[in-house]
Amino acid sequence: MKILLVGGGGREHALAWALHRHGHTLTFTDNNPAFAELGTVRTGDPLALAAAVNLVVIGPEAPLAAGLVNRLHTAGIPAFGPTAAAARLESSKIFGKRFCARQGLPAPGFTVVEAGENYTATEAGVVKLDGLAAGKGVWVCNSPEETTAAVRTAQQLRPDAAVLIEEKLTGRELSLLAISDGERIVCLPGARDHKRRYDGDRGPNTGGMGAVAPVPVPELAACELLMQRAVAGMAAEGNPFRGVLYGGFMLSPRGPELLEFNVRFGDPECQPLMMLWDEDPAPWFLGAATGKLPPGKPKIHDGAACCVVVCGEGYPESPAHAPILALPQDRDDAVCFQAGTKRIDGQLWATGGRVLGLTARGATPEEARRRAYAMTEELRFEGASWRLDIGT
Ligand code: GLY
Repeated sequence: MKILLVGGGGREHALAWALHRHGHTLTFTDNNPAFAELGTVRTGDPLALAAAVNLVVIGPEAPLAAGLVNRLHTAGIPAFGPTAAAARLESSKIFGKRFCARQGLPAPGFTVVEAGENYTATEAGVVKLDGLAAGKGVWVCNSPEETTAAVRTAQQLRPDAAVLIEEKLTGRELSLLAISDGERIVCLPGARDHKRRYDGDRGPNTGGMGAVAPVPVPELAACELLMQRAVAGMAAEGNPFRGVLYGGFMLSPRGPELLEFNVRFGDPECQPLMMLWDEDPAPWFLGAATGKLPPGKPKIHDGAACCVVVCGEGYPESPAHAPILALPQDRDDAVCFQAGTKRIDGQLWATGGRVLGLTARGATPEEARRRAYAMTEELRFEGASWRLDIGT
């Protein structure tokens, strides 16, 4: 199949790796040094490049929210991802919360502070910017004062937007991703992201410092049912969801509750999930895009996979740039996915953010974890840093 892949981060490197090993011809709209070995980079308007392909796979949320899938549909080109209306599940956190309320899906209680409203919190909450914020628009607050201050900060950042305050729940989180054709879903193994910068879940929130899958939790079946109800709800409201729906769950003492939806693969959850996906993903992506998933479920490896994110010194506040002198050797089941890298005059550089995702598979979670961490021994760049407790 000829496939156009939109996006150039670690998630898209993992998608490209999985598609390339099944013989698909890939064109990329964004640059990532790793893409040179996997296909052809032709940065430009995805709509123009898409005319020559059988399927467009869209990695990041921004083009989905901006209606790229709508435009591709109008041009008669199959695209894996939701329309702008369905992407509101992520592009407006307030839409997502109100959707859960309309559909009776369990979710933390919430308050909406309108633009310009003077608000004083009476309890600790989780404050969220309403629009897309590249993983940076969330403040987990420990007191009413912190919550009030976070609302002010959010209002200063986006004076014209409403702010969401969510009830703070306790429990473990689970990322459950489902491929949907608008009606039927297939759920991928439950995954867990580690969002805080430092070991022991300390420090600032990041896009994610590592992920593991599967995560065996007793609530899995209940979460899968909620994902099915979410997709049915979107169809009933006239916005069928086609693509990959990411349910961010809190496994709270009250039961699983939906903290948020994302409308694309998680990053870094995608990296271990692609490594566990044991067959060609393209028919599933095409089936979702065209409204008819293949029968059955995708073949998933029965081991486990772990992704350890490597970032540069100073991440997330002010990540330093540094030349990368050595990368781990890729193997069939251990791959160094590139995210924040650039090739400058022949030299590979770490250029900020999350730089690499060292991802390995193993027969057990312990083996996957050990193999992912073993890759750090082959890595050489100054200031490289990672958490030591991914998957524990
Ligand atoms: N890993 C969290 C996200 O992709 O939003």
